[in-house]
Amino acid sequence: MARKISVIGAGNVGASLAQRLVEKDFADIVLLDIIEGLPQGKALDIYQSSPITGFSSKLTGTNDYRDTTGSDVVIITSGIGRKPGMTRDELLEINVKIVSGVTQNVAAYSPDCIIIIVTNPVDTMTCLALKVSGFTPKRVVGLSGVLDSARFSSFIADELDVPPGDVSSFVLGEHGKNMVVIPRLATVNGKPIAELLSAEAIKRLVKRTINGGAEIVGLLKVGSAFYAPAAAAARMVETIIQDKKEVMPCAAWLQGEYGIKDVVIGVLVKLGRNGIEEIVEFNSTSEERKALQNSAEAVRKLVKSINLL
Ligand code: APR
Repeated sequence: MARKISVIGAGNVGASLAQRLVEKDFADIVLLDIIEGLPQGKALDIYQSSPITGFSSKLTGTNDYRDTTGSDVVIITSGIGRKPGMTRDELLEINVKIVSGVTQNVAAYSPDCIIIIVTNPVDTMTCLALKVSGFTPKRVVGLSGVLDSARFSSFIADELDVPPGDVSSFVLGEHGKNMVVIPRLATVNGKPIAELLSAEAIKRLVKRTINGGAEIVGLLKVGSAFYAPAAAAARMVETIIQDKKEVMPCAAWLQGEYGIKDVVIGVLVKLGRNGIEEIVEFNSTSEERKALQNSAEAVRKLVKSINLL
């Protein structure tokens, strides 16, 4: 039987993600939104590109959760995006309601799926989806570090004028202003960036990475980033669906790793068929551990504010 992936929310991130996924041709895709006609129209438009791009997987647009029944992976992108001047935290109240309702339906129709949360603030929304779904923590994972690391790597590549694929970096912690960018782990073809860039340049790129989402909101004015977020989510889906067991930074529920317990932040995880197969702890310095713990406290505060803990 074909694998099945459902994308909830057919807005900028959801539609872009559905297109990327269907073009990979490894599963049938369902695109769901509350707005009538929107997912159907976008799905039809993407489907009509199939003779050109050559995919043969099915793509269904719908407003009915019954069409998502038995999905292997469900990505939740529904919510409102950030407007200029709005912080991720200010999205909280509206997105809590949306993500709670959506998660209930996802868990009811796809009780065995892996959930990937994209809606912001993502660490808090991942805690919420965990609680509402009742799933084990390894089956609920949030999009954060794959995107933030891609931003950091792209800035490094641009600064050094090297191919982005030659750059490797890890960004952990909260997907927000308490993000933990770890320049020590960033390399270009295995060479630490400290050997290639000045301390001033590294500081500037770290700052730009932390501000990465806001920079795009400031430019777009009527929405938030979606091409890179969709690409990052697609990478996570591919790793899960194809059971690749690749290690990447994602938002995960911690149980004592780095001295942090009962909250979600971005850490290195091994993703596979079962979702989070393992949380991979790297050899952190005491400063990095402290930064991760600060990040976790910021998320915990937000989670407490919605009466989840
Ligand atoms: N059920 C299904 N879909 C919903 C629901 C719901 N209860 N509530 C809202 N939606 C849909 C909207 O109708 C809209 O089509 O979610 C979609 C969101 O799309 P956009 O507004 O284009 O937002 P987008 O840019 O895709 O961002 C979505 O991802 O990166 C994060 O911060 C971003 O939280 C935001 C989310």
